[in-house]
Amino acid sequence: MKKRKGLLLLLALAMVAIVVLVGCGKTAPVASTNAAKPGNAAAPAPTEVKSLVDQFKDTGHAKYFTLQVAKGPEGTAAGHYGDSCISCHSAVKMMDDKNAKLADFFPGGKYAGKTEGISCRVCHKMGNGDKDNVFSLQKEGWSSCGDCHTGTPKLGSKVNHPQNEFIKGIAPQGGTVKDMPSAKFQMKDFSCQDCHVTNSTKHDFLVPGVTSIHDEKDPVNRVSTKVDYSKMVTMFDQKKCQTCHASNAQDTVNKMKQQQEEIGSKLKALEDLSKSLEAKVKDLPKDDPKLQAYNNGITYFSYVEGDSSKGIHNYPFAKALLEAAENEWKKVQ
Ligand code: HEC
Ligand code: HEC
Ligand code: HEC
Ligand code: HEC
Ligand code: HEC
Repeated sequence: MKKRKGLLLLLALAMVAIVVLVGCGKTAPVASTNAAKPGNAAAPAPTEVKSLVDQFKDTGHAKYFTLQVAKGPEGTAAGHYGDSCISCHSAVKMMDDKNAKLADFFPGGKYAGKTEGISCRVCHKMGNGDKDNVFSLQKEGWSSCGDCHTGTPKLGSKVNHPQNEFIKGIAPQGGTVKDMPSAKFQMKDFSCQDCHVTNSTKHDFLVPGVTSIHDEKDPVNRVSTKVDYSKMVTMFDQKKCQTCHASNAQDTVNKMKQQQEEIGSKLKALEDLSKSLEAKVKDLPKDDPKLQAYNNGITYFSYVEGDSSKGIHNYPFAKALLEAAENEWKKVQ
């Protein structure tokens, strides 16, 4: 236990260091603080174990805001990136100054260069909380990720990053789909970081086996992910999962793969359908039932697409939503 505390303290110092460094927009290397764990020596040669801080620096959480601001006022304006957006993207806006504006971060502004993204302190209390755990979370449970990964589905509008609502199974009001909380949401003491394994050695926020692929020309956009299902099984190597998954881990992953393939190809087919209908609805008056049906379909479709898990967060819900999208779009054909 003593040893662990020592490690945590070291990490606390590194955390202060990274905030200072990232805050100044510098990229000086941070000392590797997470030296090999004792157990690793016996493990089948890990190619390279990156320190927690180095893993973190590679994430969209750390880099996203810097990349956006680097586009400059014109570049961000073109992407409709404005003041309302930075309330989930900038640590300075979230933690220090609720009134900060995007313009403050451009050259000449009062926060010029302070393009600290979603840094340690956004999620952790940094020693201000529980005295036994310098890394206690700002928010517990589903909220620790779900307060940003949120997007209320509203019939007629597109839905963005709605992971929180999708897992809770919150249906768009006034529509044909009913509320359908996921099995994991109904489990006691379960949350995002249990599958997106996040702990004292892993901080890329991805599910084990997942690599994210970004647009080469505009790296703020994640275009897809690559999944190595043989590595995904390690998600279940956690104490908390063993009671139920010790024997069925591989089966569960196989099933997840099938579900992703099914939802993935359904999404693709529906995307093609939606494109083929665009021309049909483009000049219709606002109150035309066909245009409304088209837009309702967009809500159902983008709810599943924007969730980005290809059904894993809530498989029955994903199926119901895609069926509803198809039914709406059939009315337009
Ligand atoms: C302060 C807001 C915020 C919080 C809290 C937050 N996220 Fe994110 N998350 C974002 C933003 C913004 C992005 C987009 C950055 C990017 O382009 O990768 C993102 C991206 C991601 C991605 C995609 C990363 C990639 O490389 O493609 C995953 C996975 C993710 N978050 C998981 C989590 C998990 C798990 C938690 C909780 C432990 C969490 N997030 C907490 C805002 C947040
Ligand atoms: C409620 C918090 C929140 C607000 C407000 C917000 N975002 Fe995000 N944004 C996120 C999260 C979470 C992600 C990552 C989710 C994902 O990739 O599924 C993200 C990702 C993105 C991405 C990267 C997409 C990708 O898939 O990598 C872009 C671009 C983006 N946001 C632009 C905007 C713009 C433009 C606005 C303002 C109109 C905005 N955001 C407002 C939370 C927010
Ligand atoms: C997007 C949110 C998020 C960010 C950003 C983040 N963490 Fe974490 N961190 C978590 C979560 C969630 C856990 C798991 C906590 C739990 O299970 O109780 C965690 C756990 C930890 C732990 C293990 C604590 C323990 O009790 O075992 C350490 C150490 C840690 N984080 C350090 C850092 C450092 C250093 C940074 C910045 C380089 C950072 N974290 C950035 C969400 C985050
Ligand atoms: C039951 C396990 C599980 C839970 C719980 C879970 N996720 Fe996921 N999540 C996944 C899997 C599996 C994927 C798909 C990975 C892939 O195909 O790229 C995924 C995909 C994502 C993605 C798209 C980027 C990526 O890595 O593919 C984001 C963002 C995300 N989850 C955020 C969250 C947030 C936020 C929560 C909590 C509100 C959450 N997840 C809860 C398993 C889970
Ligand atoms: C109380 C029993 C129980 C515990 C504990 C448990 N699970 Fe599960 N989990 C299940 C059952 C049952 C299923 C459905 C299995 C199937 O359909 O093959 C499931 C399915 C899953 C799935 C597939 C997606 C889904 O939601 O259907 C993932 C991912 C998953 N569990 C992750 C985890 C992780 C990670 C842990 C530990 C942090 C964990 N589970 C702990 C019972 C449990």
